[in-house]
Amino acid sequence: MEELIREMRQKIEAAAASVTDSKEMYQIRKQYLDNKSGKISALMKNMRDLPPEKRPAFGKVVNELKTWALDFFTSQDSRLKAAELAAKNASETIDVTMPASAFRKGALHPNTLIANELIDIFAGMGFTIFEGPEIENDYYNFTALNTPKDHPARDMQDTFYVSPELLLRTQTSAGQIRVMENAKPPIKILSPGKVFRSDDDATHSPMFSQMEGLVVDKGITLCDLQGMLDVFARNVFGEGVKTRLRPSYFPFTEPSVEVDVSCFECGGCGCRLCKDTGWIEVLGAGMVNKKVLENCGIDSDEYTGFAFGMGIERIAMLKYGVPNIKMLFESDVRILSQFNE
Ligand code: DAH
Repeated sequence: MEELIREMRQKIEAAAASVTDSKEMYQIRKQYLDNKSGKISALMKNMRDLPPEKRPAFGKVVNELKTWALDFFTSQDSRLKAAELAAKNASETIDVTMPASAFRKGALHPNTLIANELIDIFAGMGFTIFEGPEIENDYYNFTALNTPKDHPARDMQDTFYVSPELLLRTQTSAGQIRVMENAKPPIKILSPGKVFRSDDDATHSPMFSQMEGLVVDKGITLCDLQGMLDVFARNVFGEGVKTRLRPSYFPFTEPSVEVDVSCFECGGCGCRLCKDTGWIEVLGAGMVNKKVLENCGIDSDEYTGFAFGMGIERIAMLKYGVPNIKMLFESDVRILSQFNE
């Protein structure tokens, strides 16, 4: 019997000797220690066949074997698991001295930055946003804006026609009519969007963006326009920047003005940016022409209004010093990544 026990110990040790995996070791453990099918459990069952006087001694040695086997497999399990963990850690080692792979963060396009900035500024003065369609009726883009078919001012904007009546809007001013047709004063809207003209050089592109503003209410004057544009100029170009209105002509405003800001580069002394004039032209504006109000069913004796329209790319080029408008459309990340604010 002693012999049998010793043999089983040797078998266990021999079976365990070549095992390098804790899962495999567990299978061997089961072969010996499983309550139902284990070989040590089977020995206990054999006890029934022994004469009663031999049973206590047999039970004792089998129990000793079982205790030994439990200890043995527990220590084998810890040994193998420790080795497995060490191997796993070694394979997952990170060299913290390696240079990190570059992380390139996206950025908003300068046009978007300017549009957002303008929306912020004018929303702070109570303006809400209106977005009109890019394909527009001739009526909204021109006729209702006091520019009928034979009007010479149509030549100011070289238009892409889709059909005799439909065109790619040349100005966000078209949105003024859509708003005034549908809303009663007081009106205070800001209208951003793409516009299209057959025009192409360093400062013009066939597609560009505008920001239109329109205010209509009782008692609105040119002073209100300049007051709001002063807020715009200071916020976009810096404290101390002033505005100046010069007479101009647009069919939909009377009087019409061209708005300049004092040169934020030289403070007005004269430099390359302002071509030594101290002033930079930034937008067109004026008092809404009575005819335009009447075209939209607004009583021009009761209400007055002002409107303005600016090129977003022009503002971006001035503010960020972009020399060619094409740079704003080429999507060159070497340029765009410089506007990471
Ligand atoms: N629509 C004009 C243009 O594209 C800009 C403009 C001038 C808009 C005067 C206005 C305005 O609202 O009052 O050249």
